[in-house]
Amino acid sequence: MAPAARGKRPQVVVTAVSTKGGTGKTTTVMLLALAAAQAGHRVLVVDGDPQASAMRWAELAGELPGVTVVPMPSTRIDKDLPRAGAGHDVVLIDTPPGYGDRRVIESALRAAHLAVVPMAPRYADLGRLVPTLDLSAHCGTPAVLLLCMVTRTRSARELVEVCRSDEVQVNVLETVVPATTRIADAFGERTVPGPFPAVWAEVDALVLKAARKAGRRG
Ligand SMILES: Nc1ncnc2c1ncn2[C@@H]1O[C@H](COP(=O)(O)OP(=O)(O)OP(=O)(O)O)[C@@H](O)[C@H]1O
Ligand SMILES: [Mg+2]
Repeated sequence: MAPAARGKRPQVVVTAVSTKGGTGKTTTVMLLALAAAQAGHRVLVVDGDPQASAMRWAELAGELPGVTVVPMPSTRIDKDLPRAGAGHDVVLIDTPPGYGDRRVIESALRAAHLAVVPMAPRYADLGRLVPTLDLSAHCGTPAVLLLCMVTRTRSARELVEVCRSDEVQVNVLETVVPATTRIADAFGERTVPGPFPAVWAEVDALVLKAARKAGRRG
């Protein structure tokens, strides 16, 4: 992890991670990238997934103002990022699902100040949260983003309670992203749907704190 510069705002690196596929990693990375660019940052998206969904999103969009997307499905993301990320204030890394590419995910986590774990609050997904948190643990306390929320179900309410309880050592983001057709259809979009500027504000506060701490250590 690159040491943070003292005084001025350090570069921040966020990795989206989940051992489960289809939880919303690419959606989260791309919509956070657009929200961060809208907030005035120079944003680099590193596509660590060989499926190259973030690259495809950028190709469909044609141009993403303030956002550059580069492919890097590599086990050396942490080593290569200092050069690739030069000139960017915010780096967001998309990772592949599962354990097949575990070394890629690990290198993306070594590069990051904060891991963001997108998760739909469904019972089936809760069991996969623990291995994801174990994987992300060496990158500090991960932030769980509750995504694809159908808020009024009993299971959703119960699972939010479990995620927010002290048994699970995570920062659960206050902003909950509902399941919407706008987000479901966002692939290839250039504009930011409703809740993502608020999600970015929360992620930014957490990652900035982590980067400044790493800077003081490093
Ligand atoms: N809040 C939401 N509302 C509706 N649909 C959503 C929402 N968030 C994500 N989705 C949809 O969920 C699906 C999976 O999202 P996404 O591709 O981002 O997951 P992923 O974790 O990157 O998948 P993979 O593990 O294959 O890389 C997509 O079809 C996306 O449009
Ligand atoms: Mg993906």
